[in-house]
Amino acid sequence: MSSPVRYELKGNIGVITVNNPPVNALSHAVRQGLLDAINTAQRDASEAVLICCEGNTFIAGADITEFGKPFKAPGLPDVLDSIEASKKPVVAALHGTALGGGFETALAAHYRCAVPAAKVGFPEVNLGLLPGAGGTQRTPRLAGIKASLDLITSGAPISAAQAVDIGLIDEIIEGDLRSGALVWAKSLVASGAQVRRTSELPAPQHDASIFDGYRAAIARRARGQIAQEHIVTAVEAATTMSYQEGVLVERKAFMDCLNSPQSAGMRHIFFAERQASKVDDLPKDTPLRPVRNVGVIGGGTMGGGIAMSFANAGIAVTMIEISDEALQRGLGIIEKNYEGSVKRGKLSEDDAANCRSLISGSTDYADLADVDLVVEAVFEDPELKKTIFRKLDGVCKPGAILATNTSYQDVDAIAAVTKRPEDVLGMHFFSPAHIMKLLEVVRGAKTSDAVLATVMALAKKIRKVAVVSGVCYGFIGNRMLNPYGKTVQLLLLEGASPQQIDTAMENWGMAMGPLRVFDLAGLDVGYKARQALPDDQKGDPKSYRVPDLLVEAGRLGQKSGAGFYTYDENRAPTPDPAVDKVILAAAKEFGIARRSISDEEIVDRLIASLVDEGRKILDEGIAQRSSDIDVVYVYGYGFPASRGGPMFYAGQK
Ligand code: 3HC
Ligand code: NAI
Repeated sequence: MSSPVRYELKGNIGVITVNNPPVNALSHAVRQGLLDAINTAQRDASEAVLICCEGNTFIAGADITEFGKPFKAPGLPDVLDSIEASKKPVVAALHGTALGGGFETALAAHYRCAVPAAKVGFPEVNLGLLPGAGGTQRTPRLAGIKASLDLITSGAPISAAQAVDIGLIDEIIEGDLRSGALVWAKSLVASGAQVRRTSELPAPQHDASIFDGYRAAIARRARGQIAQEHIVTAVEAATTMSYQEGVLVERKAFMDCLNSPQSAGMRHIFFAERQASKVDDLPKDTPLRPVRNVGVIGGGTMGGGIAMSFANAGIAVTMIEISDEALQRGLGIIEKNYEGSVKRGKLSEDDAANCRSLISGSTDYADLADVDLVVEAVFEDPELKKTIFRKLDGVCKPGAILATNTSYQDVDAIAAVTKRPEDVLGMHFFSPAHIMKLLEVVRGAKTSDAVLATVMALAKKIRKVAVVSGVCYGFIGNRMLNPYGKTVQLLLLEGASPQQIDTAMENWGMAMGPLRVFDLAGLDVGYKARQALPDDQKGDPKSYRVPDLLVEAGRLGQKSGAGFYTYDENRAPTPDPAVDKVILAAAKEFGIARRSISDEEIVDRLIASLVDEGRKILDEGIAQRSSDIDVVYVYGYGFPASRGGPMFYAGQK
């Protein structure tokens, strides 16, 4: 079998080229190829060595598919030590994303150049890992402690220019990288440049208190994530130990993380996210429709965020509202959101202005005549939605995709009021829509392949993680929330308090406890929905008596300053004895004997309620695969990625 790494002499430069699509990951064959090539270069007429990659990117990291399988030598640390030990200068030429073990490969080289668009970083922490091939020891020696801790604990890549600023890249190459890097390597040789081994640099200067600061920040921000704690310890080792001792600390920490359930969960989510974008029965060559401009109907909580999601990806948006007043209010919120992004340093003023200029408003549906896609986000009223879809059918051009952001309604019934049900589907965004990554794409019975494929591709363009759901009440995510919510109510009646339930779930890893979520969403929403139903369709009264009593007492949740908790002006929740009284009265009404409930029981019952419904969703074919359900819960409902999602978690138990 031919190697994914080739070696050739170009004049006095030995050029090592990695070609391992799609991302040049450091598979066993690549590691072996790199080792063979660097050894060959030591023996031939080359005066320097250049490492570069074919395809879209420099090496994007270790091959994650090999993790958890039997190890095959050579290991990456040994390969990189050989590269660094080269007696001839080694130059790495970066493009695309030089990540994780890929960037560690570059740091083991003696000189680094990159195209301006390249990005570098250490995303290991997103997989529950830390750099495991010298990254925690070499980076601080080049960039100092603070920059290294920021880079490695955040997992976020930085631009080539930023990497130059902090000393991780030496040279920016404009134009063709391969030829430019070759010219640079030759000029280094001509100027007598020597090998520069990062591991031989002295331990970096530092302020000893910095590590405690990071530990405290991590305890708040990344509670219980062992990789984060190990990163700080390993970088600290770079300041107190020799390079050789430091890499041993790093290695042990890496293996601990690799073998941890946290990393297993996060690696599962990494692949689950990518798998979710694939629709099993959709032919690969399904033609896509162009989406250059979109319409968004409704500029409320969801419409504004949806409009921003498109504009942020360079897609023009026409937002339709019911009146000038409502339109100005909606556009005003968008304006404020962009101002906030600029203030927080998330967007430059120019970029924010560009995005903002892509969003225009109107109260006239005729302005949607030429859009390629419409997302409807008006009140959750099925009749209103049908009226709007009839209107869209009349004004939109043939081939326009018509999507609804409904949370619960029957997408097929909405599609049926149009003469083009094949062009209709659900695009269920999550709040706040410009921030939350999840998009449930609801495939109607008649949705065409082209429409589904187009929306899946569009989701990637607007940087959403798309999961396909079939049509059912609440689709994947909200449908599972229903039994979860019912179980919460039973736990309250049986003896758990709101704060006990929330604390148990948050300590377990949920971003927010369920009662705080209900208060945030508003208790009146479910109340109104139940009021509209005849008694026999409301379900077991135990599952809604407490929230109904709270709403009737004027406690609608955060919006009214009180719900399951009382809220101060900063929206901080405080437990309220009045709520305990309501719970006690309801328990008495149902004749429920209250008892002490353990945190473990709370977690077990709540997670089991999600998993049971998840299994039904799979059996009914609403979700394509179990890992899609995990993606929905991790990206849409604050389920901890380190637990791998509800279905993965259940499978591990
Ligand atoms: N190992 C194995 N497969 C990988 C991979 C990796 N490191 N990175 C990406 N892939 C696969 C994906 O699973 C996907 O496969 P599929 O087509 O079968 O679904 C394919 O490559 C393309 O990936 P994306 O869809 O994500 O492509 P994008 O172009 O959107 O993104 C990327 C490219 C930015 C490189 C992104 O794939 C990414 O972030 N990859 C992970 C990078 C990473 O985490 N590196 C660190 C690994 S751990 C490590 O290096 C440890 C070391 O310190 C010892
Ligand atoms: P909202 O009440 O904040 O906004 C609805 C907007 O639609 C209002 O500004 C209203 O003026 C406008 N509108 C009403 N009728 C209209 C018409 N005929 N033409 C144009 N505009 C019209 O509601 P929200 O929260 O944004 O919800 C919208 C949809 O999104 C609902 O279907 C909801 O179920 C769904 N959704 C809501 C989420 C949330 O967290 N709020 C999450 C995901 C989906």
